Amino acid sequence: MATPLVIHDRNVMRELILSSRTIGRRVGFVPTMGSLHAGHTSLVDQAVAECDDVVTSIFVNPSQFGPQEDFEKYPRDFDADFNLLARHNVCWIFAPDVHEMYPPGDSTRIEIGGPADPYEGTLRPGHFSGVATIVFRLLQAVPSHAVYFGAKDWQQVLVVRQMVHDLQLDVQVMTCPTVRDTDGLALSSRNTYLNESERNRAQTIYAALQQAEQNWCRGLAIDTIEQKLRDMLTAKEIQIDYADIVHAESLKKISEVSQNTPAIFLIACRLGSTRLIDNILLPSRAFSSC
Ligand code: PAF
Repeated sequence: MATPLVIHDRNVMRELILSSRTIGRRVGFVPTMGSLHAGHTSLVDQAVAECDDVVTSIFVNPSQFGPQEDFEKYPRDFDADFNLLARHNVCWIFAPDVHEMYPPGDSTRIEIGGPADPYEGTLRPGHFSGVATIVFRLLQAVPSHAVYFGAKDWQQVLVVRQMVHDLQLDVQVMTCPTVRDTDGLALSSRNTYLNESERNRAQTIYAALQQAEQNWCRGLAIDTIEQKLRDMLTAKEIQIDYADIVHAESLKKISEVSQNTPAIFLIACRLGSTRLIDNILLPSRAFSSC
């Protein structure tokens, strides 16, 4: 166990990373909004396994929350996060305040097209602009070799990849598998908002995705697979924002059953006032993985 150094100043952070790179060390970066759980530490563990020095940022980014969203009540517990990161051998914790990332007078935002447009992009206007803007600024402060994201936020991964490609940023975007609770619910800081009944019902989300995967492998029509999943969720009074099988890269709807394209089932749903997202990558129907 190493005690991480906490850095608040982005110039200090940048100098530390550049010094590390100068002596040939590989630097990995895990950006987070804190309230850390095993999903985050799996990213950290992968970064630690692949890099010499690992930085985690903790910053609840105001620009990615809509006016009616949960910025104020988003869970924050720096001491718990610090202790967890210490146990996972993080070298530096970058914990800037809002003015460090959004200097007074700030009015610049990054707008991404393509994968940022549908789904979360439509339902949460400005969200991906906020994500892209902060990830870009964090990468300025933390010029790492590789940056790690969880596959649960699949669309976010595509948006970051698009930005890195378009702005020709010199960083590798790594995607790590979703980490789930024992009953299958994808770990999320927002799970703490669920009451007992909602938490019990929430396990249906992954059960429904697994059923969809089986139906996919059995060759059922896409509309039927989607409808069966919707029925399973609505039977548990889970409200669906979207539940679609799409191309895993373009996020465009897939209509042909036999297409040998990378496919993903994306879901966003609500239990009470808590909104959760999840997904499952669907195996290629052309191969024997089904
Ligand atoms: O996935 C998250 O926690 C956030 O969207 C991120 C990437 C840290 C940007 O604030």
